Amino acid sequence: MPLSDFDRYPLTFGPSPVHRLERLSAHLGGATIWAKREDVNSGLAFGGNKTRKLEYIVPDILASGADTLVSIGGVQSNHTRQVAAVAAKLGLKARLVQEKWVDWPDAVNDKVGNILLSRIMGAEVRLDSAGFDIGIRSSWQQAIAEVEESGGVPYPIPAGASEHRLGGLGFANWAYEVQQQERELGVFFDTIVVCTVTGSTHAGMIAGFAGQDRPRRVIGIDASATIEKTRDQVARIARHTAELIGLGRELREDEITVLEGWAGDLYGIPVDSTVEAIRTSAQLEGMIIDPVYEGKSMAGLIDLVRDGEIGKGSNVLYAHLGGQPALNAYSGIF
Ligand SMILES: Cc1ncc(COP(=O)(O)O)c(C=O)c1O
Repeated sequence: MPLSDFDRYPLTFGPSPVHRLERLSAHLGGATIWAKREDVNSGLAFGGNKTRKLEYIVPDILASGADTLVSIGGVQSNHTRQVAAVAAKLGLKARLVQEKWVDWPDAVNDKVGNILLSRIMGAEVRLDSAGFDIGIRSSWQQAIAEVEESGGVPYPIPAGASEHRLGGLGFANWAYEVQQQERELGVFFDTIVVCTVTGSTHAGMIAGFAGQDRPRRVIGIDASATIEKTRDQVARIARHTAELIGLGRELREDEITVLEGWAGDLYGIPVDSTVEAIRTSAQLEGMIIDPVYEGKSMAGLIDLVRDGEIGKGSNVLYAHLGGQPALNAYSGIF
């Protein structure tokens, strides 16, 4: 059925702002770069991309009669922080499994930033020693079982809300929103650059844009450092979401582009190009990005524009997906 027929519970302020990054564009001397800002999309605990995904999941949560949202991520997960905020907003409990996805030496890594905010919002936070994986986790299944055993009604939300059947809808809607904003601004974004890890942000965009008349490139920049897994997950979720919203055709392979080269060797560990991208974006635009996700996708954008892989005549839209709270857990870099 068409996307407009799916229930959506508003958690955002409305369309997220789109603006030009003039000094960054001039600095790189190539394409014209714009940003669409999911980091300021909501009043719920700094918002971000998961807040958009959750707009399409909340109606299902409310219909289920659940009293506890159960989710999972790394210690500095932006996703679990947004789940905690939505639970607070809906008057539900949140149980969050925070795995040790990143071996980062900052002494306050499990005390500041996202995890601090989740604790303040009243979520029950459980630290777990398991390492990085974007798939379904036993610690999460155990947390769900524990809620049931204690007489509660859990609502399971997988990592990044990506493996949820409705997880791609939020960013399919983003694609429609972009089209609307293009009409208002009198511009066409031929290239979109987006950070990809658990996959449903990028996948939703692919499904949404695929239904539009004018083709464009949607370039996912891998920040998982497990490229094959992420590529498969993006393809699978994009195809599922396309079917859900009645695209009416199969997605082609060339519509699914996840590039590697900026993640470094490990998820969550910034490399030189990440830190450089964070400083460049901060010092030229006052735009703050994080060392786990957006620093890596911005490093990708910078190289693709500099190398002319994205041509001079292009209008590029950089999807800023949020994530700044994690910077506090990485102060040692700066
Ligand atoms: C700030 C930020 N950017 C990008 C991503 C990647 O999005 P996805 O997991 O949907 O691929 C995430 C979450 O994983 C995130 O929190």
